Amino acid sequence: MTGGAESTPRNAATDGRAGDPVAEPAGVPAAGSAPFLGVEDLVVEYPTAQGPFRAVDRVSFRLPRGGSLAVVGESGCGKSTLARALVRLLKPTSGRIVLDGTDIATLPERRLRPLRRRVQMVFQDPYGSLDPHLTAQQIVAEPLRLSGTGDRAERARRAAELLDRVGLPSSALHRRPPEFSGGQRQRIGIARALASRPDVLVCDEATSALDVSVQAQVLDLLRELQAETGIAYLFIAHNLGVVREISAEVVVMHAGRVVETGPTAAVLAAPAEPYTRALRRAALDPTAIRGVKPRHLLAATAPEGTRT
Ligand SMILES: Nc1ncnc2c1ncn2[C@@H]1O[C@H](COP(=O)(O)OP(=O)(O)O)[C@@H](O)[C@H]1O
Ligand SMILES: [Mg+2]
Repeated sequence: MTGGAESTPRNAATDGRAGDPVAEPAGVPAAGSAPFLGVEDLVVEYPTAQGPFRAVDRVSFRLPRGGSLAVVGESGCGKSTLARALVRLLKPTSGRIVLDGTDIATLPERRLRPLRRRVQMVFQDPYGSLDPHLTAQQIVAEPLRLSGTGDRAERARRAAELLDRVGLPSSALHRRPPEFSGGQRQRIGIARALASRPDVLVCDEATSALDVSVQAQVLDLLRELQAETGIAYLFIAHNLGVVREISAEVVVMHAGRVVETGPTAAVLAAPAEPYTRALRRAALDPTAIRGVKPRHLLAATAPEGTRT
């Protein structure tokens, strides 16, 4: 399938939940409003000895202000590459990333800098993504220090507020990452990502490394934060079950491409693509939750064509 996220709209307009501020269907902007984050024909290639390897292949989707969109697909399908391009840790090869009217895909660093705070990322690995030498309070204050926000005391106060908000006790302020559990570390990562008051949080497998019960607590926290702040989420996972918990809309990726998109409930109930059906079967497999990749399920269903 070609054409990306916009070519197969399901009944997204009927999927909203009354009274819920986050119910606006992602992928379909509210009448009269432009999407807050619009990704169009995004291509990211890595240079390799065999030539460019296309990890993200003409991906398109839209995320409205305050909305949620999940991106699912098996390991290696290009999710983290997409995430890194969106926060501009990587420069895309081509395509557009339109953030509130400005295309940030190719913006030079000098012009990108004031926009960087608006899209933040929570990483998968709660062990590797936090500096083990800094205290929790220093970790959360660091983005504010780097952007020259406030004075030292103000930054420390804001970091303490954020750590409290994500559910850590005040005794956590001066402890370092090795002293925390995986779930607590992920809460610190969320607090750090929120420090600069972003409009969009890209959660790249943010709960994948956590036990199921801890995963549920972190998902609850993310939902509460969204209700409070109106932040938009791009929620990346390899597990469809998790996606159901956080996002009304889903984009399914395979081999760098979007193969299916629509309301999560509809995609789960009646997946149109063979690849999505295989992912769905995998979601019912408890081993999939712990990150075992069900490649054997997918071998017979991969779309035709080689990746350029
Ligand atoms: N720096 C790199 N150089 C070359 N290939 C890469 C690089 N990083 C990732 N890839 C390849 O790009 C593809 C997508 O990787 P990634 O975005 O990490 O997928 P996912 O997050 O879905 O597991 C994989 O085939 C991976 O091997
Ligand atoms: Mg990844």
